[in-house]
Amino acid sequence: MNLAKAIQTIYSQHALVTGGAGFIGSNLVAFLLENGITVTVLDNLSTGKRSNLAEFDSNTNFRFIEGDITDYNTCLNAIQGVDFISHQAALGSVPRSIEFPHNTHNVNATGFLNMLHAAKESGVKRFVYASSSSVYGDNVVSPKGIGMEGELLSPYAVTKRLNEEYGMVYHKLHEMQTIGLRYFNVFGPKQDPNGVYAAAIPKFIDKMMMGETLTIDGDGGQTRDFTFVRNAVKANVLALATNNTETYGSVFNVACGQHFSLNQVVQAIKNGLIKNGKYNDACRIIHGPYRAGDIRDSLADISLTTKQLGYTDLDFFEDGIDVYLRMLCTDV
Ligand SMILES: NC(=O)c1ccc[n+]([C@@H]2O[C@H](COP(=O)([O-])OP(=O)(O)OC[C@H]3O[C@@H](n4cnc5c(N)ncnc54)[C@H](O)[C@@H]3O)[C@@H](O)[C@H]2O)c1
Repeated sequence: MNLAKAIQTIYSQHALVTGGAGFIGSNLVAFLLENGITVTVLDNLSTGKRSNLAEFDSNTNFRFIEGDITDYNTCLNAIQGVDFISHQAALGSVPRSIEFPHNTHNVNATGFLNMLHAAKESGVKRFVYASSSSVYGDNVVSPKGIGMEGELLSPYAVTKRLNEEYGMVYHKLHEMQTIGLRYFNVFGPKQDPNGVYAAAIPKFIDKMMMGETLTIDGDGGQTRDFTFVRNAVKANVLALATNNTETYGSVFNVACGQHFSLNQVVQAIKNGLIKNGKYNDACRIIHGPYRAGDIRDSLADISLTTKQLGYTDLDFFEDGIDVYLRMLCTDV
């Protein structure tokens, strides 16, 4: 199914987006509302921002519930009247999970099970959820396809792998239409550049615009399959709409199938900011220690996602970073 057909299929239905005040969630909410889908967001605003959703407050198809997925009754209440769920709420960041494993487990594992079980109890069959490339762990094979999971390297990865196991089990036991999306390093508008657990790309952009010192972990030769957020939104919409029964209980890579080193990314951002007249010459680029729990290279095999979900016409890295920087530079 292509994206246009997917939108038609779910048109005028009602989606619950957990974590909808966060980076990926708020981009998904925008797309769903623009395309005539009613949206309820459940978010406790721990890392997400209410301001990410402010533009939708006047939309009668939008409802915001401030609440925590670690409370089962909150999950049950939020599901009332909903046709399907996109579960994005989680505590991201590998370093955070190493430092605070209990918090990560509570939200990402217990909170996930709360949402999944509440969906089952409420008769909501379609449950699309955010997994992560971290489930490939220490496997150095490249590109990484489904079934190539290695030894896990962080509590965060453990919780995401657990999500996938629960997704598969609830499909088998209760015929739920669970679909896991393994995101690879997503970037784009509304991604938070602040805080010790911020992702690399928004942090780099911020440092360059502010003229501050930018620290690259290690030698910067490590590579990632950086994925513009529009691709993650597309994958969610395709998964919410698909009638391909082979996809239920399964997981899919969400990436571009191309990889870039951190050094290349820094250079691309610098060039883009110079082009937009927003590069601050006071910025110093230095190298620091490697991060614990990190892998050297990460590249996705997206062929299954293309074949089974119709995941095509992607926004590749260069286009994504160009759109993102232009948006940021016209905002300030
Ligand atoms: N951004 C990436 O590159 C990436 C990569 C792999 C996986 N993921 C996964 O994608 C999902 C979205 O990530 P993101 O980058 O948008 O992160 P984000 O932090 O911007 O969004 C997560 C949202 O979940 C909310 N949340 C956290 N704990 C909650 C709780 N207990 N109850 C209710 N809401 C809660 C936060 O307030 C936030 O709005 C997460 O599941 C994350 O693990 C992201």
